[in-house]
Amino acid sequence: MPRPKTARPKSAGTRTRPAHPAKVPQAPQRGRPGPVRFKHDTRAHEYELEVLPGLEDVAAAELAAVPQARDIRGLRFWYPGSPERLLRLRSVAAVYRLRRWDVPRPRGLLGHQQFEELAEFVRAVQQAGGHTSFRISAAGRESDVLQRLTQDLSAALGLPYSEEGELVLRLRPAADGTGWEVLARLTPRPLSVREWRVCNRAGGLNASVAHALHRLAGVRAEDRIFNPMCGSGTLLVERALMGPYEAMVGVDTDPDAVACARANLAAARRDVEVAQVDALHTGLPDRSFDLIMADLPWGDAVGDHASNAELYPAFLHEMYRLCSRSGRLVVLTHELRLFERALAESRWEGYELLQVYSGGHHPKAYLLRRG
Ligand SMILES: C[S@@+](CC[C@H](N)C(=O)[O-])C[C@H]1O[C@@H](n2cnc3c(N)ncnc32)[C@H](O)[C@@H]1O
Repeated sequence: MPRPKTARPKSAGTRTRPAHPAKVPQAPQRGRPGPVRFKHDTRAHEYELEVLPGLEDVAAAELAAVPQARDIRGLRFWYPGSPERLLRLRSVAAVYRLRRWDVPRPRGLLGHQQFEELAEFVRAVQQAGGHTSFRISAAGRESDVLQRLTQDLSAALGLPYSEEGELVLRLRPAADGTGWEVLARLTPRPLSVREWRVCNRAGGLNASVAHALHRLAGVRAEDRIFNPMCGSGTLLVERALMGPYEAMVGVDTDPDAVACARANLAAARRDVEVAQVDALHTGLPDRSFDLIMADLPWGDAVGDHASNAELYPAFLHEMYRLCSRSGRLVVLTHELRLFERALAESRWEGYELLQVYSGGHHPKAYLLRRG
């Protein structure tokens, strides 16, 4: 097992030598869309962020740091001009532009003026994002009114309707009950489908969750970081994109996972060492790392419950040895009872960081320190 390099990467933004709901949405099949560009629009528009349940606070903190975002109410806010900056929010699943119409029922949207406004609203998003199809998400989708709205929009925009449509339109009653809101997703794909993901694996972590975990663990330039059981490398890539660190290394016993992580890191243009090594037998000296972050096998897509019963206590024991005195261990798992039992019998102390709901899973993340 090679030792972690101590040379610090020049900066997160520096290009270096090229070297998965909470699981990964499928990567786009066709060519990747270009950047979203709203030309010549300096007006402020209202937006809403869509996040995985459990990531709301992280996303709100990320939003609070966006210059010019104003009148923020939870994940809803106003933003002036082109919204490209919003598409760099990393803990967010999607950004929607939002507009309200003072109509009592969706039928009101078919009125001449309202429909013209609606078509213009949707067209601006479509032209900026390059979406090639659309879909409508609303209660009563099969109603005559929504069928007609779908047909008229398809004709006005010259866009085909598809159940998998790229331009997601959501229709819902306004919270005060006096109008209807239409939300249009800015990007053809969810933001959690990252540009860098050229390799996908069963059990791959959703990149927004990986980003959120690193935010909560703390991004420190002096950290020597270890990602045991790195799989496709989601935690490595997301951290490498967040800022400088002292050293970072990932390991996995599966050679295909190692190749996959390397391919994703290369696509992200980040030079991080990944080795085919058993995380429990690295041969590294005591206290080699300041931050250890692991997405353990959950016993469904990866691993099984019987092997996890052995793995989890052994993992906690070995990570205790590898963690520096003031270091942190972050663990994400869906094997909650097993993990909490193993934790109670370990020397680690800590607390639950978050629980995220995604793709039928509801894993928890823990932040632990040496007791
Ligand atoms: C849940 S997956 C990790 C997914 C990863 N976070 C991603 O985004 O792709 C768990 C990984 O642990 C690896 N693994 C299991 N036991 C291991 C061990 N003792 N040492 C190193 N890797 C191990 C498996 O090969 C698998 O790739």
